[in-house]
Amino acid sequence: MKRQLHLNLFIHGRGHHEASWRHPASSSLPLTDIRYYQDLAQRAETALFDSIFFADQLALGGDVMQAPRTWLEPITVLAALATATSRVGLIATASTTYTEPFNLARQFASIDHISNGRAAWNIVTTWLATAAENYGGSGQVSHADRYARGEEYMAVVKELWDSWAADAVIDDRASGLYARRERIRPINHRGESYTVTGPLNMPRCPQGRPVLVQAGSSDTGRRFAARHADAVFTAHMAKPTAQEFYSDLKRLAAAEGRNPEHILILPGLSPMIGSTEAEAQRLAGDVNDLTDPVVGRKRLSGRFGGHDFSHLPLDRPLAPGDFPDPSSVEAARSRAEVILNLVRRDKPTLRQLLGYLAGARGHYVMAGTPEQVADLIEDWLIDGAADGFNIMPPLLPAQLDVFSAEVLPLLQRRGLFRTEYTGTTLREHYGLPRPASVFDDPNRKVDLLEFVAGV
Ligand SMILES: Cc1cc2nc3c(=O)[nH]c(=O)nc-3n(C[C@H](O)[C@H](O)[C@H](O)COP(=O)(O)O)c2cc1C
Repeated sequence: MKRQLHLNLFIHGRGHHEASWRHPASSSLPLTDIRYYQDLAQRAETALFDSIFFADQLALGGDVMQAPRTWLEPITVLAALATATSRVGLIATASTTYTEPFNLARQFASIDHISNGRAAWNIVTTWLATAAENYGGSGQVSHADRYARGEEYMAVVKELWDSWAADAVIDDRASGLYARRERIRPINHRGESYTVTGPLNMPRCPQGRPVLVQAGSSDTGRRFAARHADAVFTAHMAKPTAQEFYSDLKRLAAAEGRNPEHILILPGLSPMIGSTEAEAQRLAGDVNDLTDPVVGRKRLSGRFGGHDFSHLPLDRPLAPGDFPDPSSVEAARSRAEVILNLVRRDKPTLRQLLGYLAGARGHYVMAGTPEQVADLIEDWLIDGAADGFNIMPPLLPAQLDVFSAEVLPLLQRRGLFRTEYTGTTLREHYGLPRPASVFDDPNRKVDLLEFVAGV
């Protein structure tokens, strides 16, 4: 059998194009209506996607006047979607900088139980500077500090998910024994940032632990992904940088002692699909005409840690000197580098750059026929650039439906994509092994649970 493609649907507003919310082909439901997300999740499941994904920001975007910057809290959404679907994997974003590990471990373990093994966590350290002000801080936590704290955070949540053996619960009414003491263990973590005794107050979840997704791209971010991630999201505007990222992460994972096949690399792809190339270009042009340069400048500024681009004329070719050095950016440093590489390569005007970024914020954007989209997917898959894709339809649900109806059958005919689900858990869809449990390790000393009166 040929190598199988993994597909995640990235659900974002009414589509990934910045102006999608104004376009007649996007949904008219409010972005706070759960039926909108349930409908999309069911469409993704019917189309046999591996998973669906929700990003998250912990502060309101300042451009809410010109674009919808609101959505529902993603872990809460997953709970509602878990009961509206049965097979598709469910990925939500949550921050290691602004949550407590005990809360997060419980929430994702709960989603994994509710969904029968379909939960995944997109681990972010939160690059958005304004988030700090909503959590008692006064400014951006530095990139290095965020990742250092994230590292300890990961140790704690993994220990918590592993604090129950799979066979800890007996639930034996006759003998009166509910759970076995020696199969539940406190974690007794005493570290730099966290003190957590444990154990988790919930039995081991169906997947052993939720699938871990990450999107670090800087050197520190890549090493973090290589240690922890089962799947990695990444943004590239060209195949060569995607290939470099792919081989680097596989190498880093091997250096961590992991099987490189057990870390899936999923670059973003935002295809505008038409029955002819001219029609696809026209559709892309229609939605581009709805963009607002004021919004584009603000978002570009956010990507570069608040740098002021207001003095730059819209129609002069840009030069690298118009941008701050990416190494000084404490926000999403790697995305700043992606943008600067595009400026070096294509020397676009600011208007052209904003138009490109409006498509999918620095991910690969294309307008073409179903064959052209399927060809690109196959090419990146066989040429060492991807294990699958993070599909980012520019308009939802319209362009998701075109992708499912026109592109997926081509990929299935080429033997690259499933024609039915063979597993039930996300780990099975992704082809990943179950994580080992410390209770299976005979050399590991297990602290016994103390008796404490509870509710
Ligand atoms: C597809 C994708 C989705 C992301 N989603 C979020 C998100 O929801 N919230 C967030 O704060 N960061 C998000 N990020 C940013 C990454 O977590 C990361 O900070 C960024 O890629 C920069 O990498 P670095 O942290 O190594 O500098 C996302 C990145 C990608 C590629």
